[in-house]
Amino acid sequence: MKQILTLTTALAVLLLGLLNAVAAESSPGCGKTPSLRNQQYTMTVNGKQRQYFIKLPDNYSPTRPYRLIFTYHQLGGSAQKIVNGEDTNRGGALPYYGLPPLSNNSAIFVVPNGLNNGWANQGGEDVTFFDQLVQHVSNELCVDTRLIFSTGFSYGGAMSFALACARPNVVRAVAVLSGAQLSGCQGGTQPVAYYGQHGTADSVLNVSGGRQLRDRFVRNNGCTPVNPEPQPGATSVKTRYQGCKEGYPVTWVIHRGDHNPSERDGNTIFAPGNTWEFFSQFS
Ligand SMILES: *[C@@H]1O[C@H](CO)[C@@H](O)[C@H](O)[C@H]1NC(C)=O
Ligand SMILES: *[C@@H]1O[C@H](CO)[C@@H](O)[C@H](O)[C@H]1NC(C)=O
Repeated sequence: MKQILTLTTALAVLLLGLLNAVAAESSPGCGKTPSLRNQQYTMTVNGKQRQYFIKLPDNYSPTRPYRLIFTYHQLGGSAQKIVNGEDTNRGGALPYYGLPPLSNNSAIFVVPNGLNNGWANQGGEDVTFFDQLVQHVSNELCVDTRLIFSTGFSYGGAMSFALACARPNVVRAVAVLSGAQLSGCQGGTQPVAYYGQHGTADSVLNVSGGRQLRDRFVRNNGCTPVNPEPQPGATSVKTRYQGCKEGYPVTWVIHRGDHNPSERDGNTIFAPGNTWEFFSQFS
């Protein structure tokens, strides 16, 4: 009897594994020899030349559907600065917001470059840039199209928020670091898994703006609002909203810091770990 149970369990586990493997939505680029490598490219979007970088995982395999993670730079930043990383003691970010070392080679990174070093998204042109990048990269590389993510700091957070509003069926989750509504919110009525972090001492984009962005997805995702508003302690404080629709969590991290993607608890810059924890819950 016990053996039969064990066998049944083993079969169930195997079946679940197979179902999971089948459930990955393999993009048209799966099986192709990759035509993109770790470098800068240009594409035309609405008649304008737009630049972006690609970063492949080590030992890229064309038969493995990878996560696709967009990393948007801040105002005055650039795609090149996201690739290189910037002095984190002066408000800069780690390369690709610190995610590659955590991702265990499970992700392809896309780093778009903004017009005038920002994401004004005039007439939706930056969302169109995103659409074209998703299509192009999915055609050339093996992507799990259910696992497309976006993150960014400040204007890059605003752009990630704009994508959550306008492309809720494309982005699985976003991580908005010290954002505000600066790139618009076309649509904005559908649920999207949402991670936000903000500093109460933010002197550039105040914390109430960050809370407003969060609250749109607290509503859309059907989560229970938290009252009173969470406050930072000696370290950052993480709130996981309850009651959200299955698959649409909201996590909020409040800290005492200023406008900075690289705030620390002790020696640890906490945005990368929090973002990766949030993104990697989807598989
Ligand atoms: C990293 O990925 C490899 C290959 O997919 C896997 O075998 C390994 O267990 C992963 N390591 C960790 C720490 O998750
Ligand atoms: C936060 O910033 C917004 C936009 O600049 C401004 O309208 C609002 O009054 C500010 N709120 C607080 C509490 O400072």
